[in-house]
Amino acid sequence: MSNELNVRVEGGAAGTLVGEDQQFVFSYAPDASPDQFVSLTMPVRFRDYVHPRLHPVFEMHLPEGYLLSVIKKQFAKLTETDDFGVLSLLAPSIRGRVHYGVADSGLPDDLELDHLLYGNNDGLFEELVQRFALRSALSGVQPKVLARVENKATLKLEDYIVKSSGAEYPALALNEYCCMLALKNAGIPVPEFYLSEDESLFIMKRFDLTQEGLPMGFEDMCVLQAKSRDDKYSGSYEQVAKTIKTFVNPRFKAESLRQFFKMVVMNNRLQNGDGHLKNFGLIYENVASVRLAPAYDVVSTTAYIRHDVAALTLMGSKKWWNRKHLLRFGIQVCDLTAGQAERLFDECEAGLSELKVYVQRRLKGPLNEDQRNVLAHLDELLGSDPKTFDAAKCPGV
Ligand SMILES: Nc1ncnc2c1ncn2[C@@H]1O[C@H](COP(=O)(O)OP(=O)(O)OP(=O)(O)O)[C@@H](O)[C@H]1O
Ligand SMILES: [Mg+2]
Repeated sequence: MSNELNVRVEGGAAGTLVGEDQQFVFSYAPDASPDQFVSLTMPVRFRDYVHPRLHPVFEMHLPEGYLLSVIKKQFAKLTETDDFGVLSLLAPSIRGRVHYGVADSGLPDDLELDHLLYGNNDGLFEELVQRFALRSALSGVQPKVLARVENKATLKLEDYIVKSSGAEYPALALNEYCCMLALKNAGIPVPEFYLSEDESLFIMKRFDLTQEGLPMGFEDMCVLQAKSRDDKYSGSYEQVAKTIKTFVNPRFKAESLRQFFKMVVMNNRLQNGDGHLKNFGLIYENVASVRLAPAYDVVSTTAYIRHDVAALTLMGSKKWWNRKHLLRFGIQVCDLTAGQAERLFDECEAGLSELKVYVQRRLKGPLNEDQRNVLAHLDELLGSDPKTFDAAKCPGV
């Protein structure tokens, strides 16, 4: 069976993607202009891009884990649900800089942000999955959907990613909320985010749309390193810094490296063992504005897997590093001066201290066992004096 998709960039025809007999071929249209590139790694050229698997940039939106199983279950009987089949199913709803020549079926959008935040959420997530699974071209393993939601405060329809916790990771939404709060307070760019009142949902605004709602370019580190999603845990934070240096516009390079350094510090301090290649990306309106995307998907994974380790190597090891070593990483790899590295690290510690205030306040109030476990774990991680923080004394090392 032959499969073909018309690939468009910012509304104009860019080329065709054909999947056939274990081979995937992308060809730019003869009249594609140089700024209609589909990926920073695939400049416009006459020669075809031939891959044994779906090219990483087209694979980037394919759901993994939960959403993939929902989609496969719903559609296995109707159509082929290999990578190309799933991409074809989702193609009409992909609203990105790169999109496909098929129109959205236009389901009604009558969801309000307040309903997600304060509604009775029993069964709500399952309902959202029924309505939005096929419009959720989102990678990642955790249960989530991409929903068009009306924000009463701004009177705008905006795209939000709604994440729920599977049974495997209790109070995951609270965990992610706490971690993102610390990052925000540390001055790291993050999308607008919320925790639903019943704490079953973590909700965040899509960051790859402009104020006017126009899609921006976004490519994760798997795409930029020409790796498939199966290789998201292979590589190092040094290589991510190198990719930033390669693709980020000179205007934004120093700023992006400072942000990346802080993100690595926070991943170590919060013990996020899921900081893999798909959890960092670059964002752009055009080639002159390529920069590091806001931080997303930061969770203290040692709350669930006590001896979890980092997702990628740093200085050759996947252990949690302490201040002294992270400062060295900042200076040697992120091109910081010693003074800058110290200052940025202190900003991270300030963000963590603010999280500690929230965590301790919550620990004094009513909590269920799952919430208490996550908060007590964070409290333990945050307990150390920043200057003498010793990773060896924390669980998960
Ligand atoms: N706010 C956002 N705006 C736009 N895209 C986002 C946003 N948050 C996440 N994404 C995209 O969606 C993908 C999946 O989201 P996320 O990483 O939060 O899910 P996850 O299931 O927890 O992932 P993992 O498999 O790493 O645990 C990300 O890799 C990123 O490409
Ligand atoms: Mg992720």
